Amino acid sequence: MRIDIITVLPELLESPFGHSILKRAKAKGLLEIYTHNVRDYTPYKQAQVDDYQFGGGAGMVMMAEPLALAIEKLQSERIYTEIIFMTPDGKLFDQKAANDLSLKENVMIICGHYKGIDERIREKYITKEISIGNYVLSGGELAAAVVVDAVGRLIPGVLNDETSALFDSFQDGLLAPPVYTRPADWRGNKVPEQLMCGDPKIIDEWRYQKSLERTKERRPELLSDDF
Ligand code: ADE
Repeated sequence: MRIDIITVLPELLESPFGHSILKRAKAKGLLEIYTHNVRDYTPYKQAQVDDYQFGGGAGMVMMAEPLALAIEKLQSERIYTEIIFMTPDGKLFDQKAANDLSLKENVMIICGHYKGIDERIREKYITKEISIGNYVLSGGELAAAVVVDAVGRLIPGVLNDETSALFDSFQDGLLAPPVYTRPADWRGNKVPEQLMCGDPKIIDEWRYQKSLERTKERRPELLSDDF
């Protein structure tokens, strides 16, 4: 999978993809991530990429032309199945959206800044608008990093134990069960005996019940039919 991220702050995206699972995914050749600075595409003087909004009001808006030139340059090189705009008024990101995206080949992500981007870019190029939560970040970069992380680890072959993503919270509509590691007795607190019994049926059943319990308690809406 290839992900191209268009941003005014590529520096913000240097670290998140340089560690752990995403680093391994890149090393294995399963994931390619490229960042592109919008300023490199602007035709305007002094690398201008934003301007005042028509109608007045506080905050600058990212101009259409630099974004269009960046998007079109990438589109001239390959076909993108999704061009995503990170925005708090987009569709709320969830595990299903991550699963769907992990199957795409080439994805472009546009990070907004300031007051947002010129609406005409959204109308002309964007195929999906994604929000990572009901709060406003100062730009789309951290949100893009969240999406890339959630998607990258789902690409087949990225996780060492390929089945382990199957047991993530949300993957089966339930929260994950509690997990324990050594020592079996930590300061008098013992690991539940079901996990120590060695019988996979008992272990699976215990995990399933704990997942259900936890979901009912913390996120009951996940269990309703219309979620
Ligand atoms: N840009 C600013 N806030 C955002 C959010 N909550 N989700 C996605 N992109 C954003």
